Amino acid sequence: MLWYVLAIVLFGGFGVAAFIGAPYVPILRRDYGPLLELAQLKPGQTLIDLGSGDGRLLREAAKRGVRAIGYEINPVLYAISLVVCWRYRGLVRIRLGDFWHAKLPAADIIYVFLLDRYMSRLDRKLSNELSHPTTVVSFVFEIPGRAAVRSSRNTFVYDYPYAEAVLQKPR
Ligand SMILES: C[S@@+](CC[C@H](N)C(=O)[O-])C[C@H]1O[C@@H](n2cnc3c(N)ncnc32)[C@H](O)[C@@H]1O
Repeated sequence: MLWYVLAIVLFGGFGVAAFIGAPYVPILRRDYGPLLELAQLKPGQTLIDLGSGDGRLLREAAKRGVRAIGYEINPVLYAISLVVCWRYRGLVRIRLGDFWHAKLPAADIIYVFLLDRYMSRLDRKLSNELSHPTTVVSFVFEIPGRAAVRSSRNTFVYDYPYAEAVLQKPR
């Protein structure tokens, strides 16, 4: 019985993530340095990783003195990322859950490595919900209809202003 439960948690998490977001494909060591350079990350800033996988990008951001918040739907990867980021636990927060339904806190940088088919939905979410001017960094996939302010071979950086809808909401 315990094995069935374990198998469901292990493989169910990967299946659900692949179905509603993106499968687990971690960014490689050779890519995260240049990506964080292009993002112009500064100590004291806050970065969010939507679909934070095993937490490697959160750890790299924290190494640079950045507060890092991850959202991860797969409980196995969530558990691994707690271990990966343990040394930087003062700077890193990881939430187990679906980022599409999360109210995102204010951040300087939002990082994503998703799939082409989710980029328009992501653009709608960010355009409607951001309460703070934010730099959005997408690894591999471009955001349709938006011009990148900086880019490299595999990374696209966008400036998002405040979401007007958020500003107009009565407080
Ligand atoms: C391509 S991997 C990227 C992992 C990590 N960001 C990196 O760059 O190494 C996508 C990750 O997003 C997670 N994911 C997919 N959909 C999600 C959702 N709706 N909410 C939270 N996490 C999600 C997957 O489980 C997977 O770990």
